[in-house]
Amino acid sequence: MVRIAVLGAGRIGKIHAASVAANPKAKLVAVADPFGDAVRTVAEAHGADAMTDAMEAIARPDVDAVVIGTPTDTHVGLMTRAVELGKAVLCEKPIDLDIAESEKAAANVERLGGKVMLAFNRRFDTTFAEIRRSIDAGRIGEVRQVVISSRDPGMPPAAYVKSSGGIFRDMTIHDLDMARWLLGEEPVLVSAIGSRLVDAPLLEQYDDYDTVMVTLQTASGKQAVINNCREAVYGYDQRVEVLGSTGLLTHDNLRPTTMRLTTAEMTDAQEPLLNFFLERYAQAYRAEMNAFVDAIADGKPMPTTVRDGVLALRLAECAVESVRTGRAVTV
Ligand SMILES: NC(=O)c1ccc[n+]([C@@H]2O[C@H](COP(=O)([O-])OP(=O)(O)OC[C@H]3O[C@@H](n4cnc5c(N)ncnc54)[C@H](O)[C@@H]3O)[C@@H](O)[C@H]2O)c1
Repeated sequence: MVRIAVLGAGRIGKIHAASVAANPKAKLVAVADPFGDAVRTVAEAHGADAMTDAMEAIARPDVDAVVIGTPTDTHVGLMTRAVELGKAVLCEKPIDLDIAESEKAAANVERLGGKVMLAFNRRFDTTFAEIRRSIDAGRIGEVRQVVISSRDPGMPPAAYVKSSGGIFRDMTIHDLDMARWLLGEEPVLVSAIGSRLVDAPLLEQYDDYDTVMVTLQTASGKQAVINNCREAVYGYDQRVEVLGSTGLLTHDNLRPTTMRLTTAEMTDAQEPLLNFFLERYAQAYRAEMNAFVDAIADGKPMPTTVRDGVLALRLAECAVESVRTGRAVTV
């Protein structure tokens, strides 16, 4: 039995607490969050202890592993403490908004031999995992191009934009990880463009963008393109396409059902897309937690690492630099 404390009882902390509670090989020992009401509700729902101090939760002798679902600026401190105490960690993305801080934290984890998994949940989505398996099985030959379309249904609140670190570090980072994973080779060249087409007055304040495209190229010439927009009126659009030398892998967005409506006015009308990430990736969050617990229980390497977190953030930094200079950036 892997005994786990979840740190943070907000949007993602609630999901992780439920995933731990649902895993027969794990026990949710505690949930920690300085907001007493939030933490009590989550902890009580799963019969765990409610705590207000995350550092105390990490230090509990009956805690083997922690899940960090707190605001980004707290990740490094909590992760470092947990690793120093020999606890395994599942840490939300990004490690930190600052690349130098992230690099330092990752080097420290590696020096201490810490078991840290970065929460790139999309790798655990049934469809994306099947695409990766199909590439591994040689079903499309050599990968040539990866096309990722990843669009949110609507702009986040202004307060979120302010502290997000910008679209590349906050949103594109998931797609940069997906691109690295599907390409199977590290990008060496990044170019990006950014526009303010949804809410220019808000984004100008933070030197941020709502609509971006990133292109990546690996040393052998494999290519990826990422399309992000903070607003897609038709819902949460999450698609990838992989072109290989002997075939193409594509898939559809997910909907609550596969029903289609055909009438005199329209044909093939379908229900809206699953909306938003908590619904679309519900299965992936559960599978991500199961993979974390299995890696600890079986003494196997973590399926994603703190290094994956640094490499994705470095690509995000290159994209920021490319938009700023109008030039392609060598990684
Ligand atoms: N992988 C994903 O799909 C995904 C989705 C959403 C958020 N995230 C990441 O998860 C993190 C949290 O995001 P969120 O949307 O859940 O935020 P949130 O604001 O909903 O929740 C964060 C919670 O952490 C608590 N908190 C603050 N400082 C704390 C501390 N020192 N110890 C314990 N709890 C503390 C807050 O009180 C709050 O309840 C961010 O880093 C974000 O980037 C990842």
